[in-house]
Amino acid sequence: MIEIKQLCKSFPMPDGSQLQALDNINLTINDGEIFGIIGLSGAGKSTLVRCINLLERPTSGQVLLDGKDLTAMGPKELRKARQGMSMIFQGFNLLMQRTALENICFPLELNGLRGEAGWRKKRARELLEIVGLPDKADSYPSQLSGGQKQRIAIARALASDPKVLLCDEATSALDPTTTQSILALLKELNRSLGVTVVVITHEMRVVQQICSRVAILDGGVIQEEGAVADIFSNPRTEAGRRLVMPEGKKIHVLPENRLVRLVFNGASAGEPIISGLAAKQGIMLNIISADTRSIGDETFGEMVLGLPQDETEAARALIYLREVPGVTAEEVTDYVQ
Ligand SMILES: Nc1ncnc2c1ncn2[C@@H]1O[C@H](COP(=O)(O)OP(=O)(O)O)[C@@H](O)[C@H]1O
Ligand SMILES: [Mg+2]
Repeated sequence: MIEIKQLCKSFPMPDGSQLQALDNINLTINDGEIFGIIGLSGAGKSTLVRCINLLERPTSGQVLLDGKDLTAMGPKELRKARQGMSMIFQGFNLLMQRTALENICFPLELNGLRGEAGWRKKRARELLEIVGLPDKADSYPSQLSGGQKQRIAIARALASDPKVLLCDEATSALDPTTTQSILALLKELNRSLGVTVVVITHEMRVVQQICSRVAILDGGVIQEEGAVADIFSNPRTEAGRRLVMPEGKKIHVLPENRLVRLVFNGASAGEPIISGLAAKQGIMLNIISADTRSIGDETFGEMVLGLPQDETEAARALIYLREVPGVTAEEVTDYVQ
């Protein structure tokens, strides 16, 4: 179990002031869970994860691993405790001059773990098997795809048999399909090895796919925390709403288009609503933009539809949409998504 208590971190700035990157963080991450920490860029996520393994020393507060305070440990004790926590990164951080196998052996050499080279190589081959790349032992990082590099980095992280795997934007450099496969691997490792996984990300769908609980970090403060389905279906804070219904680009529309914005709060998906309107009322609507996501059978997010040119049809469509349960429909003019 990781307990973070009243953790603060500030950085001295060149002008003599202090930048408070983390402000009174309190979190408990249970053994064996997959815990998400989500926030926009600059929220303090990387600082938090670096404070968890004490790569960065907190300005104040405590980090307890299985009840032992890492901030109170001497260098030797800390080095040992750190072996229980491994980290993977967005940029993989593999050594380019070493093969995949040698990369995986590297932490074993550093830690002086059960010394002998033959044993290390055997262990590295087992890990290659676990991450699904048994045939890449002799490949160099430059010969591997992004997803394969991250698999090697995961194997390397597992080499010291950690209890905790800290993942800082581990899939942010990968395409959606590769992201899915890496997340599936992390979930499988969590299940089969019982390793606790802390997933740091700016992407809601990453949290949705594998985390059971999530904390929303914004401006160095935990804004809300709880079960993923609860937080994402009913964000209580402004920061939560920003992540669940992100603001993005401005959509320029022709002035003759009347637009309606639908906000989904657990309704059925958007397409059935639109096809229902076509089938029951004979009214066709265009999807101008859609940013919805499903959690179980429920849909969250928003969609902007173009109303028909015909005034009475537009009015009927609005009435229909306003009566759909779990949907808020409002007409918008200059729509900013
Ligand atoms: N070593 C550092 N020195 C000064 N400021 C830092 C340092 N590391 C991070 N920061 C600042 O702390 C804030 C949080 O950064 P970071 O933890 O990297 O956010 P995130 O990972 O969520 O994008 C930012 O304002 C960043 O500029
Ligand atoms: Mg970061």
